Amino acid sequence: MIKYIFILLTGFLASIVTGCDNTNLTRSISMVPRPAQMMPGSGNHLFSDQTVFAVENEEQAEIARGLITLFTRTAGFTPKLNVGGEGNVRLLTDPSLKSEAYSLEVSPPEIVIKASDNKGFFYALQTIRQLLPPSIERESLLDKKLEWSIPVVIIQDEPRFGYRALLLDASRFFIPKENVLRIIDCMSMLKLNTLHFHLTDDNGWRVEIKKYPRLTEVGAWRVDHQDLPFPARRNPKKGEPTPVGGFYTQEDIREMVAYAAERQVEIVPEIDMPAHSNAALTAYPRLACPTVKDYIGVLPGLGGRNSEIIYCAGNDSVFNFLQNVMDEIMELFPSRYIHIGGDEAQKTHWKKCPLCQARMKKENLANEEDLQGYFMKRISDYVRSKGREVIGWDELTNSSFLPEESIILGWQGFGQAALKAAEKGHRFIMTPARIMYLIRYQGPQWFEPLTYFGNNTLKDVYDYEPVQKDWKPEYASLLMGVQACMWTEFCNKPEDVDYLLFPRLAALAEVAWTQPDKKDWALFLKGMDRYNEHLAEKGIVYARSMYNIQHKVTPENGVLQVKLECIRPDVEIRYTVDGSEPTASSSLYTDSLTVTATQTIKSATFAQGEQMGQTLVLPIVWNKATGKPILGNKPNEKLMTNGLRGSLKYTDFEWCCWEKSDHISFTIDLLQKEKLNAFTIGCITNYGMAVHKPKSIRIAVSDDNETYREVAGLNFTFRDIFREGTFIEDFSMDMKGTEARYVRVTAEGAGECPADHVRPGQEARVYFDEIMIE
Ligand code: ACM
Ligand code: ZN
Repeated sequence: MIKYIFILLTGFLASIVTGCDNTNLTRSISMVPRPAQMMPGSGNHLFSDQTVFAVENEEQAEIARGLITLFTRTAGFTPKLNVGGEGNVRLLTDPSLKSEAYSLEVSPPEIVIKASDNKGFFYALQTIRQLLPPSIERESLLDKKLEWSIPVVIIQDEPRFGYRALLLDASRFFIPKENVLRIIDCMSMLKLNTLHFHLTDDNGWRVEIKKYPRLTEVGAWRVDHQDLPFPARRNPKKGEPTPVGGFYTQEDIREMVAYAAERQVEIVPEIDMPAHSNAALTAYPRLACPTVKDYIGVLPGLGGRNSEIIYCAGNDSVFNFLQNVMDEIMELFPSRYIHIGGDEAQKTHWKKCPLCQARMKKENLANEEDLQGYFMKRISDYVRSKGREVIGWDELTNSSFLPEESIILGWQGFGQAALKAAEKGHRFIMTPARIMYLIRYQGPQWFEPLTYFGNNTLKDVYDYEPVQKDWKPEYASLLMGVQACMWTEFCNKPEDVDYLLFPRLAALAEVAWTQPDKKDWALFLKGMDRYNEHLAEKGIVYARSMYNIQHKVTPENGVLQVKLECIRPDVEIRYTVDGSEPTASSSLYTDSLTVTATQTIKSATFAQGEQMGQTLVLPIVWNKATGKPILGNKPNEKLMTNGLRGSLKYTDFEWCCWEKSDHISFTIDLLQKEKLNAFTIGCITNYGMAVHKPKSIRIAVSDDNETYREVAGLNFTFRDIFREGTFIEDFSMDMKGTEARYVRVTAEGAGECPADHVRPGQEARVYFDEIMIE
């Protein structure tokens, strides 16, 4: 045996010396996040009722019990636990290791785990958990006999970042306690250590505060508009019933905090201020600026102008209230950090409010941004006086001063605003919305449930590298870590949250834990597949979007080029062009396909003869404009002549967009003179997102692209333009058989959305697709 371990260790040491592990061997052991060093051996270590965990103290015993319980529950035997004695799974303190680091040596007769703290021991046991048969996650006794073994391996592991976080938004969708607990357990398996709990917002206050019972009696409940997508929901009226919501009692919170702590997860509560506070202000309207005359209600959606109603910064009772809330929050959450929000505060009311203006004068504040600086600093000073540290969203950098020692969470765009704080020596965390907001689509949109904006695929999350080449060296030392944000605007049931979280949470974990030079997409997928099997055993339905195909159809010199892509390199794309369903023996897609006439392409991904993703149907329909260039060669405009219609999702990469009302003009070159009978253009309305048809469309034609003659046009009424709903309309115009080579479309957008719109004052956007010329 001694010889055996010696051989293993020599191999391991050699791998450390050469700085790389044996990738061929490593491939056979899959886990996520990928460990720093891993050296597989041969054989297995079998767990049984003969297994004895030998621990040094009661704290380690508690950690070991976490794993032992899984065996009792599922495998039907209970490994023994020996505090201060002998055993074959031995936990040994090694003060030379860093916090959270561990070493794990698995051999057939024994397992030796070393760490300097409980976190390290816990993570070693999570590694063992992932290596066990996934059935270990079952809630009940397994009815068949399984070999509860893990492969022989030596692992040295430690995290890249100390702060590895997930935000859960319980305000937009009240996530039941049981689901939060399950998510925490899944986080711990991935060695994530922080749950940023977004407990308050315009859409619901979710934590019981004894001193202010109305926060949950009133603030946790809102009107039911779940029949509409979040951004399209209208504000509540006074007296409307408020059946939708829920809240966590203080008892619930204590249970969640303890459950998380057992899994080395710290829950960082967020009480958002001064904005995102309509739920609190519904309960206590006196805390808004006295200039607010509108009815304040818990918002079911974005809120329009009501989202501009925020805590008054000139009223001392607001600070008194927030300090009292913080007292109870700090009593409930023993976390090192408290998040005090600070995002998206519009200063509409502060500019008009006599109390806010008086405060600015008295405190010598240059403008309303500095008034927010004052607000955040005052709360921060209070929280810090109780021995806690403060985190805030990156808008805190809008003020000329930041709360002392505050930690900035960079979210806007690619998180650049956080660097303004780093410049002043502040620590920061990166959660760029463009990559780390899990509310975005995780795969080709035609297959996904409706949500916001563009895509953040599994691969986008995986590829995220927070430390940029152009950073000053000191920025990297101030970067505490990374976070993914699970905003729940589009979640109506707990399964919706699981679907958006998994498996992208595994990609976050690898960004947070694994050094960049150790990241390997193909190996990650194997580890993630293994993790997903664990999720499945827990009853979690994770997304299979990673197996779906993203298409791109582009006009090129009168024909269409069809590109099909899947983010998984371990699948084949098979397709048909005869309308039949694709199978494992259909044509193999290797390079782009050329299409010259109406044709339906069906494709799907396959592995080991099995279909892995959903079937993509591309119903390409040819007309005189199809495949033809649009002058100017703008990529977006090419979408209008690619033979494919955009879906009801205006963000599906099939629609051509104009953000402004003017300068909507483009010219199609039919490449030769054609007889033109009818011109049709598709246009989408998405009321909630301010996507509307234009005021007018004009069609002009030309033979030489110099002299144009107008041949058709349409006008739309204001009422028709701002009709509510999500729908596509085709606008057809009679071209009366005119002959021409060039067709120019000019349109005028509708301008600002009216005052009674859900997005009042916002510029309406125009989306066209497809152009059909007969
Ligand atoms: C945020 O997304 N408003 C932080
Ligand atoms: Zn005010």
